[in-house]
Amino acid sequence: MQANNPRSFHKGSEMKARITVLPGDGIGPEVVAAALRVLQRVAEVYGHQFEFQEGLIGGIAIDQTGDPLPEETLALCRASDAILLGAVGGPRWDDPSAPIRPEQGLLRLRKELNLFANLRPVKLYRPLLDASPLKPDIVAGVDLLVVRELTGGIYFGPRGREGNRAYDTAVYTVEEIERVLHVAFRLSRQRRRKVTSVDKANVLTTSRLWRETAIAVGRMYPDVELEHLLVDACAMMLMLRPTHFDVVVTENMFGDILTDEAAVLAGSIGMLPSASLGEDGPGLYEPIHGSAPALAGRDVANPLATILSVAMLLRHSLGLETEAAAVEQAVAAVLEEGYRTQDIAQPGTRVVGTREMGEKVVQKIAAVGKSVHEGG
Ligand code: IPM
Ligand code: MG
Repeated sequence: MQANNPRSFHKGSEMKARITVLPGDGIGPEVVAAALRVLQRVAEVYGHQFEFQEGLIGGIAIDQTGDPLPEETLALCRASDAILLGAVGGPRWDDPSAPIRPEQGLLRLRKELNLFANLRPVKLYRPLLDASPLKPDIVAGVDLLVVRELTGGIYFGPRGREGNRAYDTAVYTVEEIERVLHVAFRLSRQRRRKVTSVDKANVLTTSRLWRETAIAVGRMYPDVELEHLLVDACAMMLMLRPTHFDVVVTENMFGDILTDEAAVLAGSIGMLPSASLGEDGPGLYEPIHGSAPALAGRDVANPLATILSVAMLLRHSLGLETEAAAVEQAVAAVLEEGYRTQDIAQPGTRVVGTREMGEKVVQKIAAVGKSVHEGG
């Protein structure tokens, strides 16, 4: 799905692409700046032309325009090949009685662009074996992919508040469930051909529809093993035996919660990237972490989740697999050399800031790119 957007231009091995950049709030601008340097380096080394255009989203957009997703931003996004986003939200906009919230901008963007499939790979980089509070023999070899449904369920159903009573409603149609399941099954074929569908079918009607649909879609992929797991059991299994999982597919809210939990496996939530994809149109790439207000403006946040999101952008929206792999290898190499931001620091490693961590990755891409060319 969605590789080689028709708007982008491919001549020989050179590509022209328009990328909308939405730094957002908190640490967003810092991690995005580091990731942009990596993208620019990729363009230099591999001879591509990336055109960047910046837009407002989240709290900063509320402050400047009164709208967490200004029309201008949405128009920029629609006219681009891919979108890179930092984070939204912060204590400034956290008043529970405020009618407008930064998060609404992100949710509306996902919905407007119909980005129903959210890919969240959880991979433990070997040098970070001891960064997780879990025992090394539990997390060793973790390599799973959560496919989270992103435009339905309780996030978007009817809701309301009547005095002392409030409600949110989870709604799913068969079509919404089917399309995200197909994404999960297709991706599993590039991996270990095992899909775990996660629901709460013992309690929720939407989950029973989910399971029924998963069984039906699963029949179209006889080469892929399908299992069903209740979300509470899945939460436990992720900590007990995470290498059990290959592709996990689940509804919006369960996916949100399980991926924060799964971040513990990778050593830090600062390591987890994401891609949000639709049937066509631009994909949205963002770290799964939030705006981390306590870290903002201090050059201490981990930019690797955003840098790894850039790798996903290159792969899924631009079809540049070699470049994507080069970014991922560069991250691995920098970690091998012992560079760490504070969230993944260990005795004997060298703690660096956001900017320096980004530059270390940039330098490695030069090296990787060169050796690829030298090797023909
Ligand atoms: C995420 C975030 C968002 C979500 C928030 C910021 C709306 O937690 O991307 O996981 O709940 O989807
Ligand atoms: Mg979340």
